[in-house]
Amino acid sequence: MFPEGFALAACLMVQISDVHLTTTGSLAPGVRPGDNLLRGLRLLDVAGIRPDIFLLTGDLADRGEAACYDNLARIIADAATRSGAGIIYVPGNHDDRDTFRRQLLGGTGPGPGGTGGGPINQTHWRGGLRIIALDSTVPGEDHGVLDDQTLGYLKSELGTAAPEGTVVALHHPPIPSPIRPMAEMSLRDPERLRDVIAGSDVRIVVCGHTHHAALGTLGSIPVWVSPASAYLADTTSTQVFHGVPGTAFSRIDLSGDGPMVTVIPVPPEAAG
Ligand SMILES: [Fe+2]
Ligand SMILES: [Fe+2]
Repeated sequence: MFPEGFALAACLMVQISDVHLTTTGSLAPGVRPGDNLLRGLRLLDVAGIRPDIFLLTGDLADRGEAACYDNLARIIADAATRSGAGIIYVPGNHDDRDTFRRQLLGGTGPGPGGTGGGPINQTHWRGGLRIIALDSTVPGEDHGVLDDQTLGYLKSELGTAAPEGTVVALHHPPIPSPIRPMAEMSLRDPERLRDVIAGSDVRIVVCGHTHHAALGTLGSIPVWVSPASAYLADTTSTQVFHGVPGTAFSRIDLSGDGPMVTVIPVPPEAAG
């Protein structure tokens, strides 16, 4: 039993990672990323889950096409309007930084989108909660790096504490994966991130990229790796990456006591 008056969340965040939208609607035989995303959002709607924030942690378009970002923006804006949610877009290795910036962040001037080819680092607020979204992508590469500019940005932002603490979001996990090819594509030099967030008000680090759920720590701070929207990774295949059909979102409840993360499995389309 919860104590009377127990409130599950001061802030309810739904994390959607690795959407991998394509212009054709299909990613591989039987894998339709747009349909999976829509089915997940419908599930939230039917269940009455009304997020305060939709957090999308990268690999949003499989090949970085503008049309995919436009489609995604329409879909997520529609869902966010229904629940009054804020939207945070974080780039992944499949995204094209400039197209992402232009289509999703309105990147024509200074601010979150900014101009030029540098990393897309952003700070968002929901009440007293701060969400710092970092760009861990390396153009043309699959692994992740937080460069000096990005780590400097994080350090500077954390210099002032947020009343309800901070969530750090990035695409590449700073913890290993049991799947060797994914471990090789994770964030390089994670101790650099660990050192910047040590002793700060960061409550949790959230990531995507591996297509499987994982929990770890960086120093003493929890790290959550979300499963994917487009398809899932078979974690029993440790030497070769093996994708399997499936869709899941993450639900992150940030109450006064700390984050609680659960997985929302999205059932496949009913047959017939
Ligand atoms: Fe991905
Ligand atoms: Fe990725």
